[in-house]
Amino acid sequence: MLSSYGTSVFEVMSRLAIEHRSINLGQGFPDGNGPADVRAKAALFLEDRPNQYPPMLGVPELRQAVAAHGKRFYGLEVDWQREVLVASGATEALAGCLFGLIEPGDEVVLLEPLYDSYLPIVRRAGGVPRLVRLVPPAWELPRDELAAAFSARTKLILLNSPMNPAAKLFTREELAFIAELVLRHDTYAVCDEVYEHLVFDGRAHIPLMTLPGMRERCLKIGSAGKTFALTGWKVGYVTAAAELLPPVAKAHQFITFTTAPNLQRAVAYGLAKDDAYFHSLRSELERKRDAFAQGLAAIGFDVLACEGSYFISADFRPLGFAGDDVEFCRHITTEAGVTAIPVSAFYESAAPRHFVRFAFCKEDEVLSAALERLGRHFRRN
Ligand SMILES: Cc1ncc(COP(=O)(O)O)c(C=O)c1O
Repeated sequence: MLSSYGTSVFEVMSRLAIEHRSINLGQGFPDGNGPADVRAKAALFLEDRPNQYPPMLGVPELRQAVAAHGKRFYGLEVDWQREVLVASGATEALAGCLFGLIEPGDEVVLLEPLYDSYLPIVRRAGGVPRLVRLVPPAWELPRDELAAAFSARTKLILLNSPMNPAAKLFTREELAFIAELVLRHDTYAVCDEVYEHLVFDGRAHIPLMTLPGMRERCLKIGSAGKTFALTGWKVGYVTAAAELLPPVAKAHQFITFTTAPNLQRAVAYGLAKDDAYFHSLRSELERKRDAFAQGLAAIGFDVLACEGSYFISADFRPLGFAGDDVEFCRHITTEAGVTAIPVSAFYESAAPRHFVRFAFCKEDEVLSAALERLGRHFRRN
């Protein structure tokens, strides 16, 4: 039952942050307002284009732009008419894929730590989760356990790369290992790639879909929210083989049916922006990551590697705090005025208990104020 799920830790921490006027580095949304030109297009399209129900699969401009983006960045040949679907955010795209493909009793392989909407939707769709754990600080893919999680009952694997909250980018070797399992067990892969453009240090994001044999088996999900730092827009897109897309479209038809047409058109404009935009998106975030990581390390945190996404995690044990990660997040919210998210929230059970996740997609002043507050607090204690 969905009602059996409690209030999420994101909500609990955000409420606590408001109550204590704490700097909220919990939830992963940028505090800027997104690119002005993309917003201007949305405003224009609100006035001079139709505002009635757009086509169920998405406006042609955006489906064409998603196909062109797949070709431009990954060399994918995509038929925009039969292989692209626009949804209301990656969250709805995920729900569409999972409700569309899972039959009651099907097994679904998922990697922990995981994004909070995955398990409730898999279970509501009748799927049986098979969880495989990656653990900090190395977040290595446990290959034997992953292989053992696949069976004749597996319908699909849900893969998130770059991965939230691990900030891990799966390597070609790891993806090849996953692809081999997908082929051997004749399954699908739902690929949550919302952070595809937020990868650092010159690394390249590799969609599983580009590996041999994967084009027909992967459903690749992207999000304008992350690619344009416009998380409130909730415009997502699915790319999948023409045979795979119809069940997803059927689910989407009954979930939201469509997404605001002006936002879709503005995102189409955005996806065609020049390389400079995509480079600066990365380099700006990379700069923030470096400054924030250095600041945390100087305070005494053991900071984990961050290869992509909006997030960086850190071990707080060197600070001498005796409690677990939830207690630590409450403590720094109420005592230091900075809010983070306990990494254990991304595991169903037996989670690691001494890592916290910070979102660094914030203005420089906000990040330095947070470091200042944490520094002051831990120097005093
Ligand atoms: C891994 C992952 N998938 C999906 C989403 C949701 O994307 P959207 O806002 O486009 O629904 C998020 C947002 O934080 C995320 O971290």
